[in-house]
Amino acid sequence: MAESKRRAVRPGEPEVPSVGGADGVWRIGSYEAARQVLQARGHTTQAGFTSEFVPKGRLKHHPILFSDGAAHDEQRRKVGRFFAPRVVAQRYGPLMEDSAERLVAGAAAAGGGLVEELALLYSVDVTRQVVGLTDSPVEGLAGRLVRFFNQPPFDITKPDLGRTRRQWAAAAVNGLGPVARFYLADVRPAIRARRRRPADDVVSHLIEEGYTDVDILVECVTYATAGMVTTREFIAMALWHLLTDDGLRSAYAAADAPARAAVLEELIRLEPVVGHLYRRVREPLTVDDGERRWRLEPGDLVDLNVRQANVDARAVGADPGSLDPGRCPARGVHAAGLAFGDGAHRCPGQPLALMETDVLLTRLLAARPRLLSEPRVEWDDLVAGYCLRGFRIGLGG
Ligand code: HEM
Repeated sequence: MAESKRRAVRPGEPEVPSVGGADGVWRIGSYEAARQVLQARGHTTQAGFTSEFVPKGRLKHHPILFSDGAAHDEQRRKVGRFFAPRVVAQRYGPLMEDSAERLVAGAAAAGGGLVEELALLYSVDVTRQVVGLTDSPVEGLAGRLVRFFNQPPFDITKPDLGRTRRQWAAAAVNGLGPVARFYLADVRPAIRARRRRPADDVVSHLIEEGYTDVDILVECVTYATAGMVTTREFIAMALWHLLTDDGLRSAYAAADAPARAAVLEELIRLEPVVGHLYRRVREPLTVDDGERRWRLEPGDLVDLNVRQANVDARAVGADPGSLDPGRCPARGVHAAGLAFGDGAHRCPGQPLALMETDVLLTRLLAARPRLLSEPRVEWDDLVAGYCLRGFRIGLGG
């Protein structure tokens, strides 16, 4: 078997897909069994992203990521129009090109910079246009989001998230201040502007649907996590692979758009940004990996290990740790594996994220990048995935 090309390997977490359960917590790394859980409509509810700890009593509408059932289907249907591939290409393509050109030109003029900073500004800039948070400067918005996501560690599978009282207090302080500032500086001005003059974006749509200001704030935080934080990390990971693999880089540079998309899907399969998804079982559910079966009971928590599932050879084919954009996964298996989820909550932003990444990478590769310092792989509990920090490149010269 070829050596694994995966860089985000979490210490202490086996890479081999397995299934096991103890004390009401199931850990599922088999692609097939994980897919069955995600596709079991009505049998589970969302338990990831600390959703079970977010007080929802005061919300008239639950955020899309945290709601389930018929109300959730309706929300999905209505926002679908912002994320369809044709809309992404026609409406947001030029915005992406502009933003990428401006940011890469700025970085090149400075001789280079930190990839995590460039990727943050870019992903925030693109996502905020789709969401409709365009009434405040992008730099301030990005900074507020980073401070908000700077939270003490937690473990979803443990009671009380495994946090001490001191960590809960820190979470309240770290979270509430930045979220209040995010509301005052970014969300409220956007709502006011759109109440006066509606635009074709998510905030205008939520106003039209009767969402309160607090509902809209919570939905904006959801999009920030779902869209901005994730894409930022993927851009850095993809660039890291491209800068350290000459064959991959020349193939990418020479490829047409569909072939570049295939490279990106293969990269995110191998290096999924969201490393685990979580569900709470509500109705009894039987899953299998093709050989063995397991019965999950109401109340059980399911930890779906995306990193394991995406290298499950039964689903993605031989040498699952290699980077092979031409691989032929088994029937029904996505090219990106479970990197964008599956079933009712499957990421609507996939076409946006992949095109956005491609636009920036194409600009960066054309600006003659040189790797100055390799990134450190750090871990973030909110998306249960990696963050790359200290990744410095030189440009031009
Ligand atoms: C590389 C970038 C991205 C990755 C890896 C990613 C991954 C995911 C995953 C795994 C889920 C499913 C969560 C679950 O099943 O519990 C999800 C949901 C979601 N994503 Fe993405 N995402 C990315 C980019 C985006 C972008 C750019 C947007 C939009 C601006 C977006 C919007 C959403 C939304 C709204 C949901 C919730 C859908 C629902 O619960 O019905 N994502 N994303």
